Parts: sequence; structure tokens; C-alpha cells
Amino acid sequence: MKPLGRLAALLGAALLAGCSRWPGALSPMGEGSDRIARLFWLFTAVCAVVWLLVVLALALGVARRHADRPDPLAQEPRRDRVAYRVVGTCVAITGVILLALTGFSWWTGKSLAALGERPALTLKVTGNQWWWQVQYEDDQPSRVLTTANEIHIPVGEPVQIKLEATDVIHSFWVPQLSGKEDLIPGRQNVLTLKADKPGRYRGQCAEFCGLQHAKMALLVIAEPRADFDAWRQAQLAPAAEPQGDEARKGRDVFQSRPCMMCHQIRGTTAGGRTGPELTHLASRETIAAGALPMTRGALAAWIADPQAIKPGSNMPRVRLDADELNALVAYLEGLK
Ligand code: CUA
Repeated sequence: MKPLGRLAALLGAALLAGCSRWPGALSPMGEGSDRIARLFWLFTAVCAVVWLLVVLALALGVARRHADRPDPLAQEPRRDRVAYRVVGTCVAITGVILLALTGFSWWTGKSLAALGERPALTLKVTGNQWWWQVQYEDDQPSRVLTTANEIHIPVGEPVQIKLEATDVIHSFWVPQLSGKEDLIPGRQNVLTLKADKPGRYRGQCAEFCGLQHAKMALLVIAEPRADFDAWRQAQLAPAAEPQGDEARKGRDVFQSRPCMMCHQIRGTTAGGRTGPELTHLASRETIAAGALPMTRGALAAWIADPQAIKPGSNMPRVRLDADELNALVAYLEGLK
């Protein structure tokens, strides 16, 4: 028993240490996720105490089952009255605990909703199989910005996110910043993100949405207001002119092949809307919704055979010879 007990204690300690260190829902970095984590620990603590008491009472009952009551069916009015009273009290306590937990849960939900009352920024995130379209809203149409799979937000300011979907139900979840919220075709849900510290927070689709559900990640980058404004300004600019012959050839490849039917690159003739916006592709950290890093090699691999990396995705394999592929990658790599 001793080694088993030690193992259990070790596992418990590792779990507790891990929970607070892993970049997950239990190491919150934003006001919303902080409230949810507190609620989680409150539920866990209350339920753990109740469970321990129940197991103790059960063990006590088993140990004493024959000790002082040889015939359990015999009438003993005095003891039965005590038993009724004990059970009645426990039922009442259970009711009070359940009501209190429901109250805390309701209060947390209400305070989460209040977070988004005065957003500093609103953006619309649309779920697609299997990537995220991100649109920064603005009163001036010329300042509306569309990008994909990477969300920049200013630190310490509430950001309202309107969630929609084009095909099936997805779920938006950035564990360190907020709870989950579904993206449902034909309706709009709203969620508020607020990051307490600058950093990169990984998000993930949290509702099974098809073959590549696991490869539907996103990245939230929280940065100081000045950095955020600079980022947004840079993103509003049209695509960079290709530098060098190879990149120029790459642009021609992009515009003469099916690429431009699905992808938009502002400042060029490519205006497709069914795939991710690519105007500043190379400024993002990943491609294919977090499936690959944004590197020359990964770009080439993805374009050469998308179905090998994300089977079932809508990105088709376009036949290109080696020179065309190299040129295309050189062009895309320059879209900072
Ligand atoms: Cu989208 Cu799972």
C-alpha cells in the first residue's frame, strides 16, 4: 500500500503544479478566464470535501455494521429518530450547497457578460472548415481589416468578439483568456476577451467540426496599445510589391493559377473570398490555422500537397513545376 500511496501523492502534486503552469484554462491570464478558474476551484474544493465526508460516513457505517446492532431489521425507535434527523440535516445541507453553487455560477456568468459592456474594440470571427476569418470592425469602411487565424488585441482592454460560422458549428476557445462560445451558422454569439498581460495565447476550435477539427487553431497576441495600433496600421496597407525577379514571377503564378479564385491579396487582382486573406501572410506566425509554422519550407510543403497535411481541407493541390513553386513561395514570403 505504501508505494501506491506515495505514487498517488506524487501524481496529485504533479497535477496541481502542472495545472498552474500549463498554458491552459487553469493558468488564467485574463479577467474572464480568471473568474471561470475561481469558480472551477470553488466547485472542486466543495465537491472534494463533500465526497470525503460521504466516503468517511460510508466507511464508518461499514465498520460498525454488526458491532452494536446484531439484527439490522429490529425496531429501535430512538435510534431511528436520530437517523432520520441526521439524514434530514444532510439533505438540507446538500440543498443549501447546491443553491449556493448555482448562485456563484450565475453570478460568474453575469460578471462575464458585464465585461463586454464597453468594448474598446469589436471584431467578427467567422468559423470555416478549418480556419478562422478575423475582421476588425470600424466606423470608417476604409479601416475595416480582414485577416485570418491570428488575432491581435491591446492588453488590458475588453475586446468584443462577434462569432459566426459559414458551414458547421465551431467553438471559439482561448483557454487562458475566456470560456468557450459556439459559432453557429445563421446566428451571432458574442464573447469578450481581455488579456491582463502581453503575450501569445493559443486558441483552439473546441467543437468537433469535421476531419481537421484538431488542426483548427488560432493565436491571440496581446500587446501594448501602441504596438497594437502600429500593427493595425501596417495591416491596413496593401500588399508589399514583390522584390526581385523570382518574387515577381511568383506573383504572376499566383494571379494566373486558381490561387486567386479563393484568396485575397489587397493591392493585386487576387480577390477571392472563400479562403484566408493573404495580404500580410508573412507577418503571421503560422499557416494553415496553426498546422505549420510560417517558414519557407512549410509554405512550400503546404502548397505542394495540402491534402497530405490537412486531408479533407478545401485547399486543392495546384500542379506547379519546381520553379513555379519556388517563385510562388518567394512571393508569399515577402507579404510581410
Ligand atoms: Cu472548427 Cu472544430
